[in-house]
Amino acid sequence: MSTNTELLQNQLAAELSEAREPKDIEALRVKYLGRQGLIAGEVRGTDFSTLSEEEKREAGRRVSSLKAFAEAAIGEARAKTEERAARARRRGLVDLTLPGTGARAGSLHPVTQTQMFLEDVFQSMGFRVETGFEVEDEFYNFDALNIPGDHPARDMHDTFWLEDGRLLRTHTSATQVRAMRMYGAPLRAVFPGRCFRNEATDTSHETTFHQFEGLMIDEDVTVATVLAVMEALLRQVFGREVSVRLRPGYFPFVEPGFELDLRCLICGGNGCRVCKQTGWVELMPCGMVHPNVLRAGGIDQDRYRGFAFGLGLTRLTMMNFSIPDIRLLGSGDLRLLDQFPAVL
Ligand code: PHE
Repeated sequence: MSTNTELLQNQLAAELSEAREPKDIEALRVKYLGRQGLIAGEVRGTDFSTLSEEEKREAGRRVSSLKAFAEAAIGEARAKTEERAARARRRGLVDLTLPGTGARAGSLHPVTQTQMFLEDVFQSMGFRVETGFEVEDEFYNFDALNIPGDHPARDMHDTFWLEDGRLLRTHTSATQVRAMRMYGAPLRAVFPGRCFRNEATDTSHETTFHQFEGLMIDEDVTVATVLAVMEALLRQVFGREVSVRLRPGYFPFVEPGFELDLRCLICGGNGCRVCKQTGWVELMPCGMVHPNVLRAGGIDQDRYRGFAFGLGLTRLTMMNFSIPDIRLLGSGDLRLLDQFPAVL
């Protein structure tokens, strides 16, 4: 064993003097110091039962010093290549024949992809896109939407309040009255964006999520307009004929308010697991804009009516891309994002 350790040491020194690239040095490290490496093999190949106590100690010392030599020599060689590379860089001597590191192409987040698709569809129907503000006044998020301070509907919105009395918007409806005041009537606008609620998280709840709000104000807007616009939209989203129905639903800022259901696209309405055997899938709340909201927006109510809808953009994205856990969307995990590589 004594001659072997010496041989190994010389052999390593010779090989190291040939190594130029970091990868060559790393290969030598694995070859000598790795778990299956030559030094470990040296220990494994020795039959210690044939050795006296003194010989065992001696063998141990030799292996330790070989190991120490190898670690030091490899570290030194590595430092040298780095220094050489730095010097070459300083002198502008770049080896242009080396393969590059390759640029990673970014891609659009699935929520962004869905949002952009919906924006296109609505823009083709004459709607403008407004993003509104993520930090909002209590007035636009609640009061202007017919949700005064003591209204029980405020309990449904677990709100992040800021120290200055403002808040993180709990829904994109907060942009409705801002847009009415800014543009007046007639108005067609959609408000995509992030919303925030101070909620416990699970597979379908996050403190941050996206909504896609729509607002249409005109002289002859009726509930039939809601149905027509929604059917036109969903036909484009799903690329085939769809049918929808309205159920009564309550939101303080619409009257009447509805839940819009989509006839299940999986079973065609016969009943299946996705629609829980009902033939219908709940898609979005909507309704005719409440008179108090039109008033807050300065809209002439004798002349104009409006409808509004609130699409769960996050939920639609999850359905569209079969993403099973909402928390994945905000995780920043490239293993998720790499699976949906659409780019501009
Ligand atoms: N803003 C409501 C929510 O977040 C949804 C909604 C929008 C309902 C528009 C009706 C009309 O729950």
